[in-house]
Amino acid sequence: MTEPTNMVNLIEHPLILHKLSIMRSKETSTQGFRQLLEEISMLLGYEITRDLPVEMQEIETPLAKMQAPMLQGKKIVIISVLRAGTGMLDGFLKVLPAARVGHIGLYRDPKTLNPVEYYFKVPREMEDRQAIVVDPMLATGNSAIAAVDRVKRTGPKSVKFLCLLAAPEGIANFHKHHPDVPIYTPAVDERLDEKGYIIPGLGDAGDRMFGTK
Ligand code: URA
Repeated sequence: MTEPTNMVNLIEHPLILHKLSIMRSKETSTQGFRQLLEEISMLLGYEITRDLPVEMQEIETPLAKMQAPMLQGKKIVIISVLRAGTGMLDGFLKVLPAARVGHIGLYRDPKTLNPVEYYFKVPREMEDRQAIVVDPMLATGNSAIAAVDRVKRTGPKSVKFLCLLAAPEGIANFHKHHPDVPIYTPAVDERLDEKGYIIPGLGDAGDRMFGTK
């Protein structure tokens, strides 16, 4: 696992911020929301993989042999936290088409309010892989904490957490439990409301992407 970090990596690329602002608007349709999430996820996938190690390998161009940089290992696994994480997969897989994908399903127990796992499937050889857990909204942080707990139990080489929007409360809660897992996000909003929604946020990400409200 990586060293303790408490790190929030703000990915403030102008394209990402512009697209995120359109997603936030209540006027944006389900189709537009989904499309923008895919585009942003592709750009986030590009940014979060900046530090992937490369190694030189011999290839042959039509004119000569050369030592060319290639991704080392290529053992990335993207873990989607159901259901909203699904919306980030397609874009991400455009930049990393060979990545493996895992899923974790959690629901909130209405009595205890604790996340309960109902589904978990990840590829084999997790101990050789770098895991990137994706969920658009880091709100209270409880489901992100539970998802990363579960992923860590499979023994991956490293874990990163990627979201679209984070609340300060969620970041603090997450890093109390997982100080070694860096968070990547384009924006940190003001606060949570009493129902656990991010303010100003973008509403319910799952409902907006699937049109279920
Ligand atoms: N989940 C969402 O979809 N939106 C929020 O604002 C908080 C959690």
